[in-house]
Amino acid sequence: SSGRQGFALAEIAAQRGAEVTVVAGDTDCLAVPAGAEIVKVRSAREMEAEIFARDTQADIIIMAAAVADFRPESEAASKLKKGIADDALSSVQLVENPDILRGVADRRRAHATTAVIVGFAAETDNALEFGRAKLKRKGADMLMVNSVSGGRVFGESRNSGWIVGADGTEIEVQDGSKYEVAVAILDAVETYQRAHC
Ligand code: CTP
Repeated sequence: SSGRQGFALAEIAAQRGAEVTVVAGDTDCLAVPAGAEIVKVRSAREMEAEIFARDTQADIIIMAAAVADFRPESEAASKLKKGIADDALSSVQLVENPDILRGVADRRRAHATTAVIVGFAAETDNALEFGRAKLKRKGADMLMVNSVSGGRVFGESRNSGWIVGADGTEIEVQDGSKYEVAVAILDAVETYQRAHC
């Protein structure tokens, strides 16, 4: 994904007075969100380490990154030259990346902290139904569920969907810019915080 939704969230949260840190992957094409500290990472494991270095002090954790679920098992230290292909190179062995969102929710339990945890769910079919199941599986408080059938949302400047809450709330988010969607998400977080403090 482009990182646009995460950067929009950072900017709107900073405008509302939050102290914001963005842990971001490949986002070189985007302007750094105003008012936020940015920490650049190059892999899911680096992202996990940077988030775990901060999550227990956070009041709100929003995971908008489309983190890769898998990574190659081994990395070459230098360029692989043509002509050396053998069985070992004809396929790339993959291993699973850590699920950072689930890790953050597990750590909140372990450390008895109280951050509101928000995730995203990109679904191609039965978006709302799968989104609800994902919310439970991940242990988050809220999920912004996007329907991405037909390649929608990724790399675009608009978004829409539903914000589903672990308390059963369901808010429809009309098609709007990623800034408008960020406003809807942060409004929902503030309402959730007030209801659960
Ligand atoms: N996520 C994460 N770590 C991963 C993959 C995803 O923290 N390794 C987070 C994303 O930032 C997002 C949420 O999990 O907030 C859902 O991501 P999504 O790709 O929709 O779901 P998956 O966990 O990949 O589940 P599935 O592949 O079964 O749809």
